[in-house]
Amino acid sequence: MSENLYPVPAAIAASALIDDAKYQEMYAASVSDPEAFWGEHGKRIDWIKPYGKVKNTSYDPHNVSIKWFEDGTLNVSANCVDRHLATRGDKPAIIWEGDDPSEHKVITYKELAGEVNRFANVLKDLGVAKGDRVTIYLPMIPEAAYAMLACARLGAIHSVVFGGFSPDSLSQRIAGCESKVVITADEGLRGGRKVPLKANVDKAADKAPVDKVLVVRRTGGNVAMKDGRDVWYHEARERVSDTCPPAEVNAEDPLFILYTSGSTGQPKGVLHTSGGYLVYASMTHQYVFDCKDEDIYWCTADVGWVTGHSYIVYGPLANGATTLMFEGIPTYPSPARFWEVIDKHKVTIFYTAPTAIRSLMGAGTEHVKKTSRASLRILGSVGEPINPEAWIWYYENVGDSRCPIVDTWWQTETGGILITPLPGATALKPGSATRPFFGVQPALVDAEGAILEGAAEGNLVITDSWPGQMRTVYGDHERFVQTYFSTYKGMYFTGDGCRRDADGYYWITGRVDDVINVSGHRMGTAEVESALVAHPKVSEAAVVGYPHDLKGQGIYVYVTLMAGEQPSEDLAKELRAWVRQEIGPIASPDLIQFAPGLPKTRSGKIMRRILRKIAEDSFENLGDTSTLADPAVVDDLIENRQNRG
Ligand code: PRX
Repeated sequence: MSENLYPVPAAIAASALIDDAKYQEMYAASVSDPEAFWGEHGKRIDWIKPYGKVKNTSYDPHNVSIKWFEDGTLNVSANCVDRHLATRGDKPAIIWEGDDPSEHKVITYKELAGEVNRFANVLKDLGVAKGDRVTIYLPMIPEAAYAMLACARLGAIHSVVFGGFSPDSLSQRIAGCESKVVITADEGLRGGRKVPLKANVDKAADKAPVDKVLVVRRTGGNVAMKDGRDVWYHEARERVSDTCPPAEVNAEDPLFILYTSGSTGQPKGVLHTSGGYLVYASMTHQYVFDCKDEDIYWCTADVGWVTGHSYIVYGPLANGATTLMFEGIPTYPSPARFWEVIDKHKVTIFYTAPTAIRSLMGAGTEHVKKTSRASLRILGSVGEPINPEAWIWYYENVGDSRCPIVDTWWQTETGGILITPLPGATALKPGSATRPFFGVQPALVDAEGAILEGAAEGNLVITDSWPGQMRTVYGDHERFVQTYFSTYKGMYFTGDGCRRDADGYYWITGRVDDVINVSGHRMGTAEVESALVAHPKVSEAAVVGYPHDLKGQGIYVYVTLMAGEQPSEDLAKELRAWVRQEIGPIASPDLIQFAPGLPKTRSGKIMRRILRKIAEDSFENLGDTSTLADPAVVDDLIENRQNRG
């Protein structure tokens, strides 16, 4: 065993749901007989018609098909709301903490039921029916959860779009799944600043087929309402009853679409279905966070990302837990905000991202130390590899060396956590996501697809299905097959590189494809490139990631200008603003290098390996450049590199 091992603290072991022996026993059972294992654990949620079949999955690239519990029927919102009413009606379901520290709200399960039923009736009045797609573009307010659950109640499919995306990105996503209805708010509020959500929807709706826009009043800001199209939620809400019977849906009926970036082309609509997803989200939420009835659980993600779907809304609510929803940002009004919120609401489980930890670490430990955090029991990390320094700072300062950190590795595609410690079972190593969750069979393969045994480093694949797995790319099954099942035949390819140590612990090393991870936000370099080449002064662009102290990866852009255009600081600024406008602020380039030419092979293919090396400021060993059409461009690129030490 490695030296930097953090054993399970005795106080955690004493009350944890799963200890190491139990983990070993359950894991062995889950992979030796998945049918029996999931047949049993599928019962953790309520079914209208119980399933008879458990697993029917094929990774054969000629016939990729993933079905779980396929003859069962259920309603996801009834599982997240109605079934708790008898025993937990007065228990807080959602604690909402506003951007402004003076604002908070507690919503009990009984109140949640009323709100979700009303919201569903409003959607029904707008014509939303089973199978329809509804786009949700909301800030972090309780209505975001109501809206998602209301869709689920009707059997409609929601597509949540992160509020930081631009009108163009939004319209692409509305059109991509043909949503006729968009739910938004007048404005969002983050760090004291207003986000013009409704105005963005107005711009997006010009380019997409939107019939109805439902507008939640958040700030009371002045917004234009279009006659016949736009409806105020608070008005519509008064016109409907608080009873809406849940639709009976099949386990394999879609629950949601969530757009995510890939290595090529436009974002793809990841499709998750109802039964398997809910079983997996709720089970991982319970065991990974060791979540008990009395816990106050806080995941700081935005509902615009999969983490918000599975671990703010569906997992916790299916478990009858209390989930905290935070509207603001970690540094407003001060870098003590997270820790103050923990004290204010007596948070016991806290789940955040390495990028937030690094930025708060940079702001100074005194902000942490002036708060108590005595309520905390479990800490979590998600979204990108956590560097050991940040892990240790988080462990020692935030958790006062009492609280295990669950470093959870997963993806939009996986629906829930796949590789993770369990608090009562797993000795921790800073920077390692440790071991697979029940039913998950990871493997490492070399470039040819040969499985590597023992301690090894390679590409991470999963060799068999788990219930939370995505089922297809919405409207493009072929893309699903190509992206995930064709690189290594018969296996799900994650796109991540990974090392397994002698103890069998997994260490994710980051993406091995053209996807970059900027502050935990996943981005396709191709998307940023296509935004750049849409600018009239840009002839060619190549985008790569480079190591960034706070963001994990930064966005490094190489731009070749149209003939006659001159590089300048002003033009760099203009291009930054352009990308922000085309995609959103999260895609804003960190470094821009104007390059007279890009390194290309004689057949015209850009050699990204070289661009990556130069962006990393490690150009001594560029490898073979003899196949370049014009080797001289490399000297210019090195000479004018933007990342120096
Ligand atoms: O590279 C991995 C990284 O984030 C990618 C998935 O991004 P997304 O679909 O946006 O989902 C993020 C939230 C689940 C992965 O392919 N990633 C996520 N969690 C970790 C991670 N890398 C290392 N350690 C993690 N804990």
